[in-house]
Amino acid sequence: MIHPLTLTLDDQLLRDRNISVCIYRGDLEYADAPGNKWHKLRFNLAAAKAQGAKHLISFGGPFSNHLHALANTAQQEGMIPVAIVRGELQPQLTPTLRDFVAAGGILWPSKRVDYRAGMESDFVSSLKGYYPDAFWVPEGGSNSLGVKGCYYWANAIKQQADEIGSFDTWLVSAGTGATSAGFLANDNVPNMLVFPALKGGEALLSDIHSLALQQNPDSHLQRLSIVGEYHHGGYARLPSELKDYIEQLHQLNPHLRLDPVYTAKLVYGVEQEIRKGKLTNQKLLLIHTGGLQGWRGYQ
Ligand SMILES: Cc1ncc(COP(=O)(O)O)c(C=O)c1O
Repeated sequence: MIHPLTLTLDDQLLRDRNISVCIYRGDLEYADAPGNKWHKLRFNLAAAKAQGAKHLISFGGPFSNHLHALANTAQQEGMIPVAIVRGELQPQLTPTLRDFVAAGGILWPSKRVDYRAGMESDFVSSLKGYYPDAFWVPEGGSNSLGVKGCYYWANAIKQQADEIGSFDTWLVSAGTGATSAGFLANDNVPNMLVFPALKGGEALLSDIHSLALQQNPDSHLQRLSIVGEYHHGGYARLPSELKDYIEQLHQLNPHLRLDPVYTAKLVYGVEQEIRKGKLTNQKLLLIHTGGLQGWRGYQ
């Protein structure tokens, strides 16, 4: 579903600058793995099943949207989800990890140093001994199968977008960049602006390009720009400015909720760019990539 998005900006200013803003509601799709989650997981799940894997293992923080979706979908496919969780587990599990366990999942806390080493850590080598039959999915579902899922997701979005008119630019939030890479690889997608949720997100450009090239060797970076200044301090930060903005936007669009880590920074960033005089004469399509379960980390 695509609908117009009311920003906190004056409508007249948007008309004067010939800007229109719509949002694609990925958050309303696939309740168990909303937004980009299903798309990054679907081909991983298929590959795991084809391999006869009993366990599906991945990495994430204690509030990870990715782990949440992985647990739900692995369970549906008859596999046992296993999470390598960044940092120590607290005696009171987070709601995300409680859901993970409720889906029949197994948690392995990982020291930050091991977590950073990812698949290269001794910790992972020893876990491979426990789970010889497992299928491993990288953090955030960011592998070529995840990118492939987002490539196909872009076709579905494009089809709906074309029913409304032609959009000049798609705008999307980024963590690992896999979603943006799938979009970039798809020639049906017009220009893209990518808003990283983390500091230093400009560095994602080369990651996005190399992931996109695996899906489509003709992927061209010219169609993509990174807008790196709206990370608001990184993943776990919710400064009052952003919190207030989320509330204001909800009042203007009562049917819409943004998540605090990704999509709120995207919409906020788009408004700021427009205030700066950018994005004139454009029809903009913002992509809601879900993540609403992440709110439970802020209550
Ligand atoms: C809700 C939400 N939006 C956007 C992203 C960023 O996606 P990617 O890591 O593919 O850049 C994520 C992370 O997966 C997410 O959970």
